[in-house]
Amino acid sequence: MNLLGQPLDRVDGLMKVTGDARYAAEFPEARLAHAVLVTSTIASGKIASIDASRAEALPGVLLVMTYQNAPRLPNGGKPALAPPAGRHLTLLQDNEVHYSNEPVAVVVADTLERAADAARQVRIVYQPGSAALDFDAAKPQMHAPDNPQGRETDTRRGSFEDGMRGGDVHIDATYTTPIEHHNPMEPHATMAHWDGPQLTLYDSTQGVSGAAQAVAKTFGIPTSDVRVIAPLIGGGFGCKGSSWSHVSLCAMAARQTGRPVRLALERPQMFGPVGARPRTEQHFVLAARRDGTLTAMRHDSISNTSMIEDWTETCCMVTRMLYAVPNQITTHRLVQLNVGTPTFMRAPGETTGSFALESAMDELAAALHMDPLALRLKNYADSDPQEHKPWSGKSLRECYQIGADKFGWSRRPATPRSMRDGNTLIGMGMATATYPANRSDASALARILPDGTAMVASGTQDLGTGTYTVMTQVAADALGFAPENIHFALGDSTLPRAPVSGGSQSAASVSPAVRDAASQARNQLIALALADPASPVHGLALDDVTVENGWVVSRSQPGKRDPAAAIIARAGGQPIEASATAKRGDEKQKYSFHSFGAVFVEVHVDAELGTIRVPRVVAVYDVGRVLNRKTANSQMIGGLVWGIGAALEEESTLDTRYGRFTNANLAEYHVPVNADIGTLDVTFIDQPDPYINSLGVRGIGEIGITGVVAAIANAVYNATGVRVRDLPITLDKVMHTTPV
Ligand code: MOS
Repeated sequence: MNLLGQPLDRVDGLMKVTGDARYAAEFPEARLAHAVLVTSTIASGKIASIDASRAEALPGVLLVMTYQNAPRLPNGGKPALAPPAGRHLTLLQDNEVHYSNEPVAVVVADTLERAADAARQVRIVYQPGSAALDFDAAKPQMHAPDNPQGRETDTRRGSFEDGMRGGDVHIDATYTTPIEHHNPMEPHATMAHWDGPQLTLYDSTQGVSGAAQAVAKTFGIPTSDVRVIAPLIGGGFGCKGSSWSHVSLCAMAARQTGRPVRLALERPQMFGPVGARPRTEQHFVLAARRDGTLTAMRHDSISNTSMIEDWTETCCMVTRMLYAVPNQITTHRLVQLNVGTPTFMRAPGETTGSFALESAMDELAAALHMDPLALRLKNYADSDPQEHKPWSGKSLRECYQIGADKFGWSRRPATPRSMRDGNTLIGMGMATATYPANRSDASALARILPDGTAMVASGTQDLGTGTYTVMTQVAADALGFAPENIHFALGDSTLPRAPVSGGSQSAASVSPAVRDAASQARNQLIALALADPASPVHGLALDDVTVENGWVVSRSQPGKRDPAAAIIARAGGQPIEASATAKRGDEKQKYSFHSFGAVFVEVHVDAELGTIRVPRVVAVYDVGRVLNRKTANSQMIGGLVWGIGAALEEESTLDTRYGRFTNANLAEYHVPVNADIGTLDVTFIDQPDPYINSLGVRGIGEIGITGVVAAIANAVYNATGVRVRDLPITLDKVMHTTPV
């Protein structure tokens, strides 16, 4: 029985489609009170006065919490953990306003409707200050961030100037991407319940342990006094990787009212207080010899942050590692705006950075009259050119080859705007996908129960990605049990600690711990049976027995077999339990860990209207071993769909007078619908990474969105002869630009 890789159906699927699944805002609680956030209507300044009397007088209203009456927090509510582990939050400790839609009050009532009504009756008078809302106007004051997310701010290798002189063809282009907001189906939601000094939070979070720690630090209480529970998450994508203001505000309101309090963000409140992908402006300079050999590359990335915290979209990370260019400069700079602090959003830096890099490479190929895929192969990096380490594994050549064959890349017209079907211009484009393979320490426990089933657990999360399902497979495989006899538990900070489900690291981090714990429990079960004179397998050699479908069986005499329940019953009925922690070794010192892929796209552009359709995408990925072909395929399809949205539709439009996003809803914030999506053909190389962990598993959450945006931009160029460097690629940009 080898379950790894099998396309097992989601173990949580039935519960979800039948409505049994409970999300953070759906747990019943006696005496539950409901909180609604009031948010600022100015982008900068101070609260001059608050009149809460009308709201407070309404029936059922329990509390109007503002900076005037909110409990004082240690250190003024400033983060006790360095960002992004602890964010600079708005916890009603002063009257400052830093962006529009910033929380300024929390209204609590006995029903949600009464709280929502009262929230609209809180009268706030502001004293507006001057706000920085125009990216270009604020750009002269940009600053260098301090090692963003632990990465180098700037890098320099070789001599860029020599490389420029050594090139025959040069590209100099600037690419821009807009502010975007994560909008998982389930908005952020928290329910807080105090029991004496102990706080329980039902919170939609990508990291139960991190959330417990961040909230405990905010309140100045022991982390052991905070329990965070998140069995299911309706999408995360990075916005739920940090604990934002509403989590602690909910806990403050619960403490103040002496009742359990639920706070769910309204959809427009997703546009500001809980992170965003920032605007980026990326300047690329490339130089290459006539044969396509890159001699110099420069990438200067500017992105916006807020007034209260530096957060950098690390666009240059891909540029540093993808091509074997000897002479390179990369820089990151930040522009401060009066908007909410940006944060991780699916492949943060790689989504935006790969758009710019892979567009610039396509522009270089055009200037060289070279096939874009041949240009990439010419500059293929056989080892990490920045870190000077071998790759732990890189099957990108195979990805290119298989993808090109499946797609029919050889049929791509070399001349732009030369393939046409009536009024439809047809174009083909490609780009490289890549994302780092991350891993952190993680723990798990496995318990074989007296009824012959097993409970396996780790304090990890399932964002809707399939963690329950793949960990059930890993546990079942290691135990020798049927998957339906495994109950996998996660999403509780009291379980063995696992990292935040961010950076595509959960599968790579948690699966080795689950495997170790389950293997140990299996070994204990075998030992118990072999030592028991009453067992049919008593006295057999250790290497003659295995566990199949929950039975200890002899390999040589299959008739000799003993079920787990009987073994445990004879031994006194106590569960067999094992726990394990899987830690990183020194492999990161020796190897560079990345996943890779190749994305090929066909676009159809209406020659007169400029409308763009994407009838088919072929994508091939090297992501190490695939744990479940079905959920992995779904992950990649999700990434490709989001990439299509990022290329063609997605944009938060900022009103530069008032600082609000004008499309803060799901009607005007455009994302693809089913009718926008054609064929998405995903292939995995499925080659275990020999160095990352005992299973050869890398993560797959984020690579799916990388590369696809550039592949579409490049296909639009091939179809129309118009190079769009400013996302999203809307029809006006295709219509109103002279072909280049
Ligand atoms: Mo991912 S953007 O690290 O949740």
